[in-house]
Amino acid sequence: PEPSWAIDAEVALVGSGVAGLTAALRCAAAGLRTVIVTKALLDDGSTRWAQGGIAAALGEGDTPEQHRDDTLVAGAGLCDENAVHTLVTEGPDAVRRLIASGAVFDPDEDGDGIALTREGGHHRRRIAHAGGDATGAEISRALVEAVRTVQREGTAAGGTIETIEHALVLDLLKDAGGNTAGVSLHVMGEGRHDGVGAVHAPAVVLATGGMGQIFSATTNPAVSTGDGVALALRAGAQISDLEFVQFHPTVLYLGPDAEGQQPLISEAVRGEGAKLVDADGERFMVGRHELAELAPRDIVAKGIMRRCQEQGAEHMYLDGRHFGARMWQERFPTILAACRTHGFDPVTEPIPVAPAAHYASGGVRTDLDGRTTVPGLYACGEVACTGVHGANRLASNSLLEGLVFAERIAADLTADFRAGRLRAGAPVTDRAVVQLPAAELRTAIQRTMTEGAGVLRSAASLAAAARRLAALRPPAGSAGSAVPVVPAGPRSADGAGCGPAEPGTQTWETANLLLVAEVLVRAATEREETRGCHWREDFPDRDDGQWRRHLVATLDHSAD
Ligand code: SIN
Repeated sequence: PEPSWAIDAEVALVGSGVAGLTAALRCAAAGLRTVIVTKALLDDGSTRWAQGGIAAALGEGDTPEQHRDDTLVAGAGLCDENAVHTLVTEGPDAVRRLIASGAVFDPDEDGDGIALTREGGHHRRRIAHAGGDATGAEISRALVEAVRTVQREGTAAGGTIETIEHALVLDLLKDAGGNTAGVSLHVMGEGRHDGVGAVHAPAVVLATGGMGQIFSATTNPAVSTGDGVALALRAGAQISDLEFVQFHPTVLYLGPDAEGQQPLISEAVRGEGAKLVDADGERFMVGRHELAELAPRDIVAKGIMRRCQEQGAEHMYLDGRHFGARMWQERFPTILAACRTHGFDPVTEPIPVAPAAHYASGGVRTDLDGRTTVPGLYACGEVACTGVHGANRLASNSLLEGLVFAERIAADLTADFRAGRLRAGAPVTDRAVVQLPAAELRTAIQRTMTEGAGVLRSAASLAAAARRLAALRPPAGSAGSAVPVVPAGPRSADGAGCGPAEPGTQTWETANLLLVAEVLVRAATEREETRGCHWREDFPDRDDGQWRRHLVATLDHSAD
């Protein structure tokens, strides 16, 4: 479909979690005209669902070096040490700035500092939390409110933020020199913009979050469909480490057929002393790792899966009965309510838990300033692969990564605009043809991925997944399936939407899921070892000799 309207900006931000909103606020504060494009409402997305908290060396006796060491251990030899250094040294001040922007964290017992908890892989209490177990919701509230304030009052430097909700980003626009020139998008709403349009901007920041919806059961909300990675692939950017999907060990188990977003039981519950037990009440993580239930989460997820295999069980249990009703209500109100909604009461019984897809440690490859390999295209937050997570993200490093690297992108963009290095060029017609599968194929993609590329993988399971995914792909040139995305056309005033044949959000999302799933399966097949959250049954050991390196993919499927 042809874009029927276009607006001009200096920076187009795609996504509205902690990364997107922080980048927008900092760009506007520096005087830039920014537009946030988001698929649902401004506060939808993964950030709002984050429970445990945000990790930073804020506690007495803690240091960025200790935080770095825990991050590197979790990352299983594949972290970029410069990126980790940046994260842990800039993290504490970034959290203080977040507090200054209005986010309220739970106070410690004296009431003069911030309460800090522990999670898997952390040797210290360094996780700040809000509302007990509703940290992401508080961060999201504070940042959305700050954006609204900028919209009402502007900024001292003259920056602005426009928001376009219910807008699925389709593709990157480029100018004649191959530089970023904006994005095309499909808006389904009642607002000022509707149908297929464009935001013309020389800088585009992807902050679209994760891709958990490529699996049947995930902690991710429905909007996490890998849109940013798919867009970056189509735009020719490099993607890295996609095989490292983190499965959160403790997700409330709702039966073998449960699909879509599942209730997370935060690591912080284990951080406060809950124990993992089997059906006989035996603690099976003791003896498997010195930190037992608080081992890095890949080790806990594997421990649960191994015990399930040994006992022919579908799930294990998390026992936090000793907390008592008051602590459950005060410290974990969200989790308590979710358990009770599903008929479990953690105050009186161990609750059933099993691993589910949680976080993409890989994504769009960036440098320390969030630049991708396409000029003018940036990425931050879960969609990005900055190198801080390596083969397995340390718990609660994700909100911090979003915050720190969003700020770095805004600083880099501001410097580039001031130096005249970023200037808008007219988008040129560059027909990116996307094969659109039927939206109904989504369930088949998800089941294929869970069966073949889930927690436990093998050459055989991955080959079966690759075959099934290839069969789901619409044949090239098949009638009605190829939709040209025209990222150009003359700039026009805001206008009406496109015709009724226009594919909907679900169809685009399914195309994105399929593309990302295929690239992920290829990477998981190629990496013939077990490392971090990539667990190969047929290659059970870590192989530093051959595999201490990253797999990098582009749409033409080159590697390394
Ligand atoms: C949790 O609360 O367990 C999730 C924290 C995270 O994914 O970092």
